[in-house]
Amino acid sequence: MKILAIVGSPRLNGNTNFLVDQALDEAAKLGATTEKIVLSQHEVSPCLGHDNCASLAACIQKDDAGWIIDKFYEADGVILGSPVYYLNVTAQMKAFIDRNYFPYKKNIRAKARAVGIIVVAEQMGIEDTLYTLHQFVDWVFFVGKSRRFVVSGYANKQGEARKNHQLVAEARKLGQKMVASLQQE
Ligand SMILES: Cc1cc2nc3c(=O)[nH]c(=O)nc-3n(C[C@H](O)[C@H](O)[C@H](O)COP(=O)(O)O)c2cc1C
Repeated sequence: MKILAIVGSPRLNGNTNFLVDQALDEAAKLGATTEKIVLSQHEVSPCLGHDNCASLAACIQKDDAGWIIDKFYEADGVILGSPVYYLNVTAQMKAFIDRNYFPYKKNIRAKARAVGIIVVAEQMGIEDTLYTLHQFVDWVFFVGKSRRFVVSGYANKQGEARKNHQLVAEARKLGQKMVASLQQE
């Protein structure tokens, strides 16, 4: 069972990365193979919008989006983690979302049967950010609401989420729920 997390925060020691690590750690303890891809550590350029995807064998942009999307489509479970930036996902996450237009135009849908969503804000914008991520999930996966596990909460400075014991427990629980969900048929 493979669970892949895609993280949109550029802060490697930030709140989102910390919470995603908690979820993955719990999933690994229960036997899942886990991997985390932090988008800012790779080159994922914004979509160029030519809209010729359907007639092309591969995206014309030769950056890291191709292999990341391949892994994303093959994982049994995926976690999407983003802080709120100006009331929505970060630019890194939005670029990643837009690059999924290529498989979308080819009518390819991802394999994952469980999805986790982790969102952190200082004070506002969680609802719109969750809306964006849920809409994206609707486009990419055949995963209904009962197999989507969401954790969101408030933190700002690096390390703040770590001190929020309830949030940490919820993130760990998300990892457990994903494994349990993937163990069901
Ligand atoms: C460019 C930028 C925009 C932000 N916009 C918002 C926002 O709209 N609403 C909010 O509550 N917090 C906002 N924040 C605060 C972050 O969501 C908050 O610091 C979060 O904990 C960062 O997560 P991270 O540690 O995982 O990077 C913003 C931060 C930055 C750097």
